Amino acid sequence: MKNLLDKKILYIICGGISAYKSLETIRIFKKNGAQIKTILTNSAKEFITPLSVASLSQGKVYTDLFNVENETEMDHIALSRWADVILIAPATANTISKLAQGTTDDLASTVLLASNKEIYLAPAMNVRMWEHQSTKQNLQKLINYGYKLIGPEIGEMACGEYGEGKMSEPDKISNEINNYFLNLKKNKKLKALVTAGPTNEYIDPVRFITNKSSGKQGYEIAKSLSKKGFDTTLISGPTNLKIDDDIKLIEVETADEMLLETQKNLPTNVAVFSAAVADFKINKKFKNKIKKHESLNLNLEKNVDILNYISNHNSMRPELVIGFAAETNNVERNAEKKLNNKNCDWIIANDVSNKKIGFSSDFNEVTIYYKDKNKEKLSYKKKSEISDEIVDRIINQLN
Ligand code: PMT
Repeated sequence: MKNLLDKKILYIICGGISAYKSLETIRIFKKNGAQIKTILTNSAKEFITPLSVASLSQGKVYTDLFNVENETEMDHIALSRWADVILIAPATANTISKLAQGTTDDLASTVLLASNKEIYLAPAMNVRMWEHQSTKQNLQKLINYGYKLIGPEIGEMACGEYGEGKMSEPDKISNEINNYFLNLKKNKKLKALVTAGPTNEYIDPVRFITNKSSGKQGYEIAKSLSKKGFDTTLISGPTNLKIDDDIKLIEVETADEMLLETQKNLPTNVAVFSAAVADFKINKKFKNKIKKHESLNLNLEKNVDILNYISNHNSMRPELVIGFAAETNNVERNAEKKLNNKNCDWIIANDVSNKKIGFSSDFNEVTIYYKDKNKEKLSYKKKSEISDEIVDRIINQLN
């Protein structure tokens, strides 16, 4: 398991009979060079001792949410930021339910809610609990939030019953985590470019034409790409958003600047054009601020369509070119027209006549129109979740 070397794993152990397997899992992680910090829930302490976990992990075991020592050394936010990946094994029905509701009544659930990392769950519970509708619904929510599942397996349980719900073995769990880092390494070789936000087209030194794009959708796509290991460049029009340091951010104002920076940063393996670029700019920008008494006639000229230009460029065209379409009517017809006219591989359409999604909202609902297969709808959810789903599809396509 070569990919675990020096990786930081935050291991959360919940209270279930299979908690004993966590000791073997920690041993495998350590043998392969990973750094481990552990959190034990209160009920986990009934099954294994903090001392045995500390000895095997050779690190501190965290247990309490309100602990002066923890807070000065590493608080719940710092703990989640420290990790490269978070593993919850065993993940009990109770913890799964708390995560699905967003409850934060102990250190484990607080760290998880504050996390911006990939989270793996290895569920373990009695077969009836596993098959219960509430567990199924809670799990589905977590999968939609982007949590990854390991197992559970079918087999004989500690309670004597037989069925699905048995926690996966330490070998399988450590293999999955190793594969996560292996895929990250593979994706690291991949480059991505994302455009986001509006552009400002100046009339005079203080006035400009713009639109309602907040940049949220594009920033979330850049974050999802970077989280999956892509070497990501984000070319952004003016927004109020912040982005992690591992993403190369290039701030621009006008469509011309966005075009120039896009050209400078291509080719990449994938480019996602989510920016709401102004279609027109002022033909001749006024040198000084226009006075009120002057009458005003604006001559507009077309901006270069960056997506179209790149899609049709021989040497700059990425392997996968994805455009967006913000439509208020005839969504399907317009999206398909853009897919063909702009020569891109996918068009992701959002119906921006719906005030709950699209411009400025934290949520979106999109349909992906593919050049070579049937369209696919991604239902209403947070822009961050939509982005994760888009990036999963990008990875499949590039592979
Ligand atoms: O930023 P948010 O508030 O999160 O909102 C997200 C969004 C609604 C802006 C986003 O989801 C979206 O739909 N982006 C595309 C908006 C748009 O301008 O669509 P369009 O139909 O005008 O353009 C089609 C495609 O061509 C887009 O990929 C656009 O980036 C690209 N284009 C357009 C004009 C131009 N001069 N250059 C371009 O590259």
